[in-house]
Amino acid sequence: MRLLVLGGTKFLGRAVVEAVLARGDDVTLANRGRTNPELFPDAERIEIDLTGDLAPLAGREWDVAVDLDPTQLPRQTRRRAEALRDAVGRYVFVSTISVYADASQPVDEESPVLDPPDPEPDEFDPELYGGLKVGSERAVLEVFGDRATIARAGLLVGPHDPTDRFTYWPGRLAEGGDALAPGSPDAPVQFVDARDVGAWLPEAPPGVFVATGPTRALGETLEEVAAAVGGGARLVWTDEQRLVDAGVQPWTELPLWLPAEARGLMHADISRALAAGLAFRPLAETARDTLAWSLDAGEQRPTLSREQERELLG
Ligand SMILES: NC(=O)c1ccc[n+]([C@@H]2O[C@H](COP(=O)([O-])OP(=O)(O)OC[C@H]3O[C@@H](n4cnc5c(N)ncnc54)[C@H](OP(=O)(O)O)[C@@H]3O)[C@@H](O)[C@H]2O)c1
Repeated sequence: MRLLVLGGTKFLGRAVVEAVLARGDDVTLANRGRTNPELFPDAERIEIDLTGDLAPLAGREWDVAVDLDPTQLPRQTRRRAEALRDAVGRYVFVSTISVYADASQPVDEESPVLDPPDPEPDEFDPELYGGLKVGSERAVLEVFGDRATIARAGLLVGPHDPTDRFTYWPGRLAEGGDALAPGSPDAPVQFVDARDVGAWLPEAPPGVFVATGPTRALGETLEEVAAAVGGGARLVWTDEQRLVDAGVQPWTELPLWLPAEARGLMHADISRALAAGLAFRPLAETARDTLAWSLDAGEQRPTLSREQERELLG
């Protein structure tokens, strides 16, 4: 398979490239060469700023393009989709589960989505993330029709995750002792190892898919992570209101803890993607690999500090 990856060197795109190289496929990366330029020295790379002149993409053919949406604006997505219309067989666009209009209810591919912002902003605005993705999805579907795949990724986790929305837990639980656990062990959580989505994207059939992992209970998830990383941590479940009153930020400071109004995104129906071949490695593997990577990367993270945790537990 000849594959074009628009992006490809940070997290999900990196996982796509690693998976296709491991399979022995031909891959061309298209990016500016700024993010982790040392990666994939043997892969072909087209140096291009996708907000600018798209001529470097001309005169080539690929079986599949995987678009990681490096520019995050619908008009830019449309421009490159049009530039590649006759150059690629299938076009896989990475969207997000944040496209849904009502995050409090369980979602599937048919659930109502947000409206794209009108007018479209000049620059990417994180507040408009979901609506901008809807605009880009529409552009790709208009240009590629039944040759388009739209993958609405859920929370992506694993090695090289630039956020800390899962990485906190393997690190914290590996340290052992009393570990503050937020809210209820029965709260739903749903996430997926980026490497599993990355391996699936180039193979995904046309259509729209919610691409995330199975819904799990937070308690079982944390117990499984703790068992995988060792350390013998004991979970101390702490009332949500106490955490809110103490100013602890759900999701960012205490990852996997979400306010009730966003829990629909933890109940996404993934049956269509499963039928289309999306498969998952064991959670224990994700936990151990994430821990190994994060210890190695050694970055400072914006999550609950051990001091804050001790105060809240005390
Ligand atoms: N993280 C999550 O939980 C989550 C959930 C749902 C959906 N998503 C979606 O997943 C995608 C994230 O992918 P990723 O960041 O992991 O992808 P990635 O492909 O691994 O990294 C981003 C790539 O974009 C390139 N890039 C950035 N600006 C560019 C430009 N102007 N022109 C050309 N290339 C450019 C970067 O290289 P250079 O800097 O060298 O150009 C880099 O290779 C996004 O679409 C996001 O919305 C993420």
